[in-house]
Amino acid sequence: MTDQELIELAKKARRNAYVPYSGFAVGAALLTREGKIYLGANIENASYGLTTCAERTAIFKAVSEGEREFVAMAVVADSEELSSPCGACRQVLAEFGDRIRVIMVNLEGKQQEMTSGELLPAAFTVKQLRGQAD
Ligand code: THU
Repeated sequence: MTDQELIELAKKARRNAYVPYSGFAVGAALLTREGKIYLGANIENASYGLTTCAERTAIFKAVSEGEREFVAMAVVADSEELSSPCGACRQVLAEFGDRIRVIMVNLEGKQQEMTSGELLPAAFTVKQLRGQAD
């Protein structure tokens, strides 16, 4: 699976975004260590706060299917300024490691990559919960 293939799948996922309120469609494609792909799109609600981002849709789909190890995620939106995962999605990603590559892309092909650890340094994780030192 190349980065470009992952990006194309995120674009495909974006077409299923349910965005009657913001009109801002986001697609995500999440790659597991074993090479499986889980797609996600944002899902809005008339009760706005219940909206779920594309990234979390993909992560929750994967985790609920038993996946735990992720290597990369492509995120696609139609914005000049690249759309990066919101704080909630960063925390959910951080749960599964600080080395997940997050590839942010817009429809014009602008692209930037950061790791989950770069997106959320000093994340709250199981280390704090269990009182472990680094
Ligand atoms: N959104 C995502 O799906 N991912 C992000 O990383 C940021 C925001 C969605 C939520 C909402 O449906 C729309 O974009 C506008 O905030």
